Amino acid sequence: MSASEMERYSWEQVLLHWISAAVILWVLVSGFYVAYAEVDEAIRTWVGWVNVSATTLYIPIFVLRCVVRAFKPVPASIDRNPLGRLAAHVAHQALYWLTAVVLLSGVLMMDHAIDVFGWWQIPGPAFDAVWHARWFTLHIASCFALAAVVLLHIAAVCLHQWRGHAIVRRMWL
Ligand code: HEM
Ligand code: HEM
Repeated sequence: MSASEMERYSWEQVLLHWISAAVILWVLVSGFYVAYAEVDEAIRTWVGWVNVSATTLYIPIFVLRCVVRAFKPVPASIDRNPLGRLAAHVAHQALYWLTAVVLLSGVLMMDHAIDVFGWWQIPGPAFDAVWHARWFTLHIASCFALAAVVLLHIAAVCLHQWRGHAIVRRMWL
């Protein structure tokens, strides 16, 4: 095992990564499913409600994740090739920035109060129909971009793992 494979993300980074991955994967898969597959209206409404609630609760977790990213060093890349290192850096930055845009556009496109699991009602931002449509378009576009980079990310992790590099261990407790 190389020296960089021995390095690990801290437990805070690991916890925040896997909470983020679970929320984002669930919301992307279920959100696109109910948007484009033929499903019962009741299921569509339920998934929409769960996803809006879960992603709203996720916002402070994402902010915490960005703060940890800014202040806590991350282990050195396992890629020896500078181009591979750059690609991983750009992809990781894209994941953070796209998540921020998806969350922001999601909140800004709300034309009614945000109901968080029936526990809280947060007033919607009350934009007119034109701006509502713009935030909606940005939300959908950024969701597609995020899904593409997430797929790339998972493919890259699998590739490293198959090539015999213990990359998942670095993001594990
Ligand atoms: C099954 C799914 C996933 C697996 C197996 C996985 C695995 C990993 C691994 C092993 C790393 C460490 C890479 C390294 O050592 O350089 C990592 C980093 C990262 N992952 Fe994932 N991941 C998954 C899903 C996701 C999802 C859905 C997101 C959503 C945004 C995500 C965001 C990130 C980010 C931003 C980093 C970089 C962390 C940093 O250096 O700050 N991952 N992932
Ligand atoms: C990481 C966070 C988020 C992800 C991954 C995500 C993902 C998605 C996806 C995949 C869709 C379906 C897109 C389509 O129709 O093609 C969707 C729709 C939607 N999102 Fe998000 N979303 C996130 C955050 C939010 C937030 C924070 C809110 C509001 C508080 C929100 C509100 C909505 C609403 C209301 C729809 C349904 C639009 C419609 O009526 O069809 N989303 N989201």
